[in-house]
Amino acid sequence: MKIRNADIETIVVEFEVNGKPYNIHVEPYKTILEVLRDDLGLTGAKKGCDDANCGACTVIIDGKAVKCCSMLIGQARGTKIVTIEGLETAEGLHPLQKAFIDRFAIQCGFCTPGMILTAKAVLDAKPDANEDDIREAMHGNLCRCTGYVKIVEAIEVARDKMNKSEV
Ligand code: FES
Ligand code: FES
Repeated sequence: MKIRNADIETIVVEFEVNGKPYNIHVEPYKTILEVLRDDLGLTGAKKGCDDANCGACTVIIDGKAVKCCSMLIGQARGTKIVTIEGLETAEGLHPLQKAFIDRFAIQCGFCTPGMILTAKAVLDAKPDANEDDIREAMHGNLCRCTGYVKIVEAIEVARDKMNKSEV
């Protein structure tokens, strides 16, 4: 739901999401997560805890996985953001998306966009990340359904595929 308060001045924020430029007028108290979901209609990032603990809201900002429920929209100025909606290409699902499906690393799916984006950030930074690296990187993303074994396996499968095809 959009909440507009006529007594609060809006700010202008220019940024890029999934390769598309935006220049929006928005209330400064809104978080990046709220703007993505409520103003831009990108609902892949989820609001779980809303206090930077669960990772369901994770997006990639300038190459780093961040929990955007705890960032004000002003902090997005001049950044490049990638959400789960930006991963699929004309060739199809990203290898991480495919591996999560193939390895049954998804149940309710609420944590999955954040999981995949954290995994993408770590594999982009370290393409040969081993299991320990992956577990360390994923420690801030909580899943209430699957346990973590299948999630880590899926990321390793995607890593191997990405390294073969240099996606
Ligand atoms: Fe942001 Fe939980 S909703 S970390
Ligand atoms: Fe349900 Fe992770 S699949 S919370």
